[in-house]
Amino acid sequence: MGRSSGKQTSTKFVLILSCGGLLGAALIADLLWASSSYSSSAYMSIASNWAPQIHQSTIIVPKKVDKKPQEGPAVKDNKDAIPDRVLSATFADLPGPELQWEKMAAAPVPRLDGAAIQIKNLLYVFAGYGTIDYVHSHVDIYNFTDNTWGGRFDMPKEMAHSHLGMATDGRYIYIVNGQYGPQCRGPTTHTFVLDTETKKWQDMPPLPVPRYAPATQLWRGRVHVMGGSKENRHTPGLEHWSLAVKNGKALENEWRTEIPIPRGGPHRACVVVDDRLFVIGGQEGDFMAKPGSPIFKCSRRNEVVYSDVYMLDDEMKWKVLPPMPKPDSHIEFAWVIVNNSIIIVGGTTEKHPVTKKMVLNGEVIQFNLDTLKWSVVGKLPYRVKTTLVGVWNGWLYFTSGQRDKGPDDPAPKKVIADMWRTKLSL
Ligand SMILES: *[C@@H]1O[C@H](CO)[C@@H](O)[C@H](O)[C@H]1NC(C)=O
Ligand SMILES: *[C@@H]1O[C@H](CO)[C@@H](O)[C@H](O)[C@H]1NC(C)=O
Repeated sequence: MGRSSGKQTSTKFVLILSCGGLLGAALIADLLWASSSYSSSAYMSIASNWAPQIHQSTIIVPKKVDKKPQEGPAVKDNKDAIPDRVLSATFADLPGPELQWEKMAAAPVPRLDGAAIQIKNLLYVFAGYGTIDYVHSHVDIYNFTDNTWGGRFDMPKEMAHSHLGMATDGRYIYIVNGQYGPQCRGPTTHTFVLDTETKKWQDMPPLPVPRYAPATQLWRGRVHVMGGSKENRHTPGLEHWSLAVKNGKALENEWRTEIPIPRGGPHRACVVVDDRLFVIGGQEGDFMAKPGSPIFKCSRRNEVVYSDVYMLDDEMKWKVLPPMPKPDSHIEFAWVIVNNSIIIVGGTTEKHPVTKKMVLNGEVIQFNLDTLKWSVVGKLPYRVKTTLVGVWNGWLYFTSGQRDKGPDDPAPKKVIADMWRTKLSL
């Protein structure tokens, strides 16, 4: 990284790398929160515009231009120097078909790192950051039958505002607390159950230790909680616990220890299909509170994003399945099951190798559980992470999250309330 030569192009490269290093060490999260100037009406044209550019072939690798002789003798300090490479910011986009997206009524509030559970024709949308300094403490409901928002109600005041774990049995929603408060505060051990028919909340036994954005799912009558980050928000936890539940009641007083997950960390999709439990994607590491900051100000730390897919079945041993088409994180509520496939909307992938900027994903991907094959279903209106997703009558819906800066810049910018849908055909 400290390589240098007397050539102009190289100097520029080294500068970029040095900046990247600094950014990697501690980039203040506020950068990612800057307000956006995109008007919502521009979205559809963006959707059709960015498609041709997003192809692996957009990786631009110009050869180092040899210095002109009149600039003096070259300083050769490293004869094995690699030629300069300029990697397009959009290098991670995967080719895929266009989808026709229809813009629906926007959610009452923008949300980042919120949570969502679909029960029949209703999408319950919980919590989330409105801005880095403001978090929501209520639920909004989207009705897929008449495509309207309504039914707002409050969350318990002890309930976390982001990075929650959630699962449902079709009436009750079981909730594992994530991060309590704005910026980069830590998680708590609280758990809750919501009866969606009465809108009543109850406590459940607390987790043995706090977890931040753990994989959470209801499987064989037990709520399973695994992975996530530990109290400092960054260190991956491998622990896996479960609790027997029935009709909104815990049947046990404490969580049972289960087989640890092979890789810990937050922001994964956790899905039960056909009596098997899948844990998909996610990352190790996350933003942390700046030491000593009274507001727990977020500062960026190293993150590694994964494409891993793990499965538990009868044997209760983790099995490794074919990996995702690329690493994908921030997808805990970004999936639905359709026709024995898991469909995942957006997310984040590995940071840009040169600029170190966070890179968002702009695809809808499919994991076919008959063939265990991944494919790209199509493109989103823009790249976006922490989407909240539902499916109704063959329509795939997504709302919320944080979108990209624009077609040529996949770094995160505006926190959105938008709701979109597209007709799925798998
Ligand atoms: C959803 O919309 C349908 C059609 O307007 C309506 O009949 C139904 O009561 C709504 N559900 C809720 C929970 O509001
Ligand atoms: C799911 O499968 C059924 C039966 O093959 C088909 O009619 C339907 O269109 C499929 N749904 C999607 C979203 O592709």
